[in-house]
Amino acid sequence: MSASPETPRLVVFASGRGSNFLSLIEAVRSGRLPVRIAALFSDRPGCAAVAAARELGIPAVALRPRDFADRAGFDRALFAELAAFEPDLLVLAGFLRILDPAVLEPWTGRIVNIHPSLLPLYPGLDTHRRAIEAGDARHGASVHFVGAELDAGPVIAQASIAIAADDTPETLAARLLPEEHRLLPAVVDLIARGRITLDGAAVRLDGRPLAHPLQLHEAGLTLA
Ligand code: GRF
Repeated sequence: MSASPETPRLVVFASGRGSNFLSLIEAVRSGRLPVRIAALFSDRPGCAAVAAARELGIPAVALRPRDFADRAGFDRALFAELAAFEPDLLVLAGFLRILDPAVLEPWTGRIVNIHPSLLPLYPGLDTHRRAIEAGDARHGASVHFVGAELDAGPVIAQASIAIAADDTPETLAARLLPEEHRLLPAVVDLIARGRITLDGAAVRLDGRPLAHPLQLHEAGLTLA
């Protein structure tokens, strides 16, 4: 991964399998995403995402929450490690912790999260089961700027799929995942190019406020 000094630098946060992290790496490798992935940060040193980063020669910083007196102490320690990597953008991709607003505040407009639901529906866990049980016709994933609340903050873009009559949470999650893997690099690309910005509570595309989240289609992201 070669990059010029002005290439935007990303730090990705993940706690588990890391398939969204790998989707970003693949997008960079194939030339679709003009960023440098500077490091992978995690709260689970033994997780697959950390192993994948190390295998790829990407620096991984993984701290254990239980080594800290409290939640805020862990968050402060983890975020203190960021300076060494000089990131322009932080991407939460399956990072399973709620972060302290105090560490998030300096990153306002420069930190995004991918969440497996059509926000504002179903913040939190178990989103696939909740969408099926509610009888929803569609389910999806959202990439949003991170705010102080859980899975809240202005939504930038969504990918959606139809829920089939015989879907289980597992089949639905499995069908949604490839959409997540297209959605996240596409959104990060727009941010890296300076086309998507946050202005207060408004997401702007090329300077204009977005009335609705962008939608992922075959050809890529489009206005609603
Ligand atoms: C994804 O479904 C993502 O939307 C959610 O957590 C899951 C992480 O999967 N936030 P992976 O670790 O990227 O494979």
